[in-house]
Amino acid sequence: MSSLQPMSEQELTDVVIERFASTPDDRLREVMQALVRHVHAFAREVRLTDDEWLTGIQFLTAAGHITDGNRQEFILLSDTLGLSSMVDLINHASMVEGVTEPTILGPFYVPNSPEREFGASMIEYADGGEESLVEGCVTSPDGTPIAGAVIDVWQNAATGFYAVQQPDVQPATNLRGIYRTDVQGRYSIHTVRPTPYPIPDDGPVGKMLSATGRHQMRAAHIHVKVSAPGFAPVTTHVFDEASDYLDSDTVFGVKGSLISAFTPGDDGLLHCAVDFTLEPTH
Ligand code: BEZ
Ligand code: FE
Repeated sequence: MSSLQPMSEQELTDVVIERFASTPDDRLREVMQALVRHVHAFAREVRLTDDEWLTGIQFLTAAGHITDGNRQEFILLSDTLGLSSMVDLINHASMVEGVTEPTILGPFYVPNSPEREFGASMIEYADGGEESLVEGCVTSPDGTPIAGAVIDVWQNAATGFYAVQQPDVQPATNLRGIYRTDVQGRYSIHTVRPTPYPIPDDGPVGKMLSATGRHQMRAAHIHVKVSAPGFAPVTTHVFDEASDYLDSDTVFGVKGSLISAFTPGDDGLLHCAVDFTLEPTH
């Protein structure tokens, strides 16, 4: 039935939301109706022009064209809009005091890293990085050590690149490894100091960053996934206290509790002390 009155913006929003009302799956209906409500509100708030709408479509089209099995421009977009960190907070932040805070996984995780002994080096390619020992304990929130916890680690080389980004330069397992805690819950990783590095910026997300006056740098970090039977696993980072970009990490991954110092020891190595606390699942 047609009305003689022109349709208002709010009526259009209401009609589109109503069109999803009979979605059989409750969760899908909730998500789609909220999506329409917020996308319409966004367009109305900024008074989106025809040209701006088309620019947005062209941006998403370019993101699709550059995405393949190795490159995921949509996740990069989510990362740089802070959406990945928001989803991480919603789903993985623990309410238990002292539990290690999570942060984003990133695109450079490779499963099945080599198992490495307590204190073993994961440096398989000398690129001038500052050799470091990252050491500490894995415990439950009451301080009980967790023996046999698994610490899956990966990081970039001093040149800024992960092994997976340089298959013709670095050995595939350089600077990644799987360590386990000893009976006292301790772990020890021999590695190099991580360096700040740019996220891939040769696609539409890079253009978005430069058009908005943002840089493309991540603060220096080591990635870790820590897990143990009976505890919720955590995917997180160890950030270098001396790094640039801690207050402007381009993917919003930095949390104060994840920042640690690399300090020179008598053995000629840098030392970084980091404890991880896991939340019991029962
Ligand atoms: C990373 O830390 O490896 C990363 C995270 C988000 C985008 C690009 C890289
Ligand atoms: Fe990283």
